[in-house]
Amino acid sequence: MGESSPAALLFTPLTLRGVTFPNRIVVAPMQMYMSGQDGIATDWHFQHLGKYAVGGAGTVMTEALIVDPVGRNTYGDLGIWSDAHVAPLRRIAQFLQSQGSLAAAQLHHAGPKASRQRPWEGLGPLGEAEAARGEAPWQPVSSSAARTIEGWHQPRAMTVAEIGRLLEDYGNGARRAAEAGFDVLDIHAAHGYLIHSFLSPVANFRDDAYGGGIDGRMRLALEIAESVREQWPAERPLFFRISCVDWRRDLDSRADGWTIEDSFVLARELAARGVDLIDCSSGGIRAENSIMDFAKRRVKLTRGHQVPYAEAIRRETGVPTMAVGVILDGKQAEAILQSGQADLVAIGREVLNDPHWALHAAQALGVDPDWRRWPPSYGWWLELRDRIGVSA
Ligand SMILES: Cc1cc2nc3c(=O)[nH]c(=O)nc-3n(C[C@H](O)[C@H](O)[C@H](O)COP(=O)(O)O)c2cc1C
Repeated sequence: MGESSPAALLFTPLTLRGVTFPNRIVVAPMQMYMSGQDGIATDWHFQHLGKYAVGGAGTVMTEALIVDPVGRNTYGDLGIWSDAHVAPLRRIAQFLQSQGSLAAAQLHHAGPKASRQRPWEGLGPLGEAEAARGEAPWQPVSSSAARTIEGWHQPRAMTVAEIGRLLEDYGNGARRAAEAGFDVLDIHAAHGYLIHSFLSPVANFRDDAYGGGIDGRMRLALEIAESVREQWPAERPLFFRISCVDWRRDLDSRADGWTIEDSFVLARELAARGVDLIDCSSGGIRAENSIMDFAKRRVKLTRGHQVPYAEAIRRETGVPTMAVGVILDGKQAEAILQSGQADLVAIGREVLNDPHWALHAAQALGVDPDWRRWPPSYGWWLELRDRIGVSA
């Protein structure tokens, strides 16, 4: 039977506000593009998210939930723009919690990257072919009327009145997420989407209070954080996902675009408004800084390539961080936590590959030698098979 468990930070609980994360593993938000045009969660989403809770992830985050249909990436996006979205999301949250996981939700508006094809349909802007099958394009909104990606739809600059309504949309999204019973909420402000289009000087050309220097460019992000905090219960943690840098250059380079120093300023301001953790991603504001460009140029991903950003923000500001991006196994995740680079780790594609990632990480770190973390209806059999042994 089990020896005493060696210390593993990955499996040490963490408390933020009134919520205790049972372990440090978070399933990263991942859009499935699998809803009908109504944004309602289906059984696909239920089984997709449910299996990660069965697989031992301490926190399972939904994909981006759209706060206003103009901000959909695709017609298949999940929504939280109406009360009708709440019940199926509640069913998912309750199942995740029944398995001992926290249920997290992410609020989203795609901004200039709205109105596009699903990845496997080309990931380009919607056009005539899609219109012919009932998925007509619409004009996206952004900080400015400037395309961030060549060949995509020309966005329209949001008016100040529209920004006022957007703040209400985010507030309503937060209220609905609370009604659905989620424990944790994340605001998606990364990857070239709406909030990022305001933050970044390479996308924001406004000359009003929402543009100009960093204070103006941060204004929307901070107002959204405030609007969400008002509606999101005080005892539940709020995360904020940013692209920590616009260009994947060295941390100390004076790159144009949003820089790591800008992220320090933003993290402090967000924390002052009740944001509890910075979810540290990068890139996406321009085509040349997207994963598709990596594929085109055959640039290889490196393990943990965004971890230095989580580390820098945590060290400089003292605000807790979550690291994400090519974190492939438990030992790598444990090393990130042990070296103080982040407080939580989020796993995306590797949980698609292995929904039992967290349970396998526990085994690799020696904290579950006898399958006790597994649901008993699986673990009992697997432990017995281990004990009996299988001849070569
Ligand atoms: C299928 C898929 C969908 C994604 N959808 C979202 C999303 O809804 N919101 C978001 O913030 N990031 C999204 N991402 C980015 C992931 O959350 C994560 O940051 C990224 O995949 C890097 O982590 P990984 O290397 O562990 O996959 C998505 C990634 C994938 C692979």
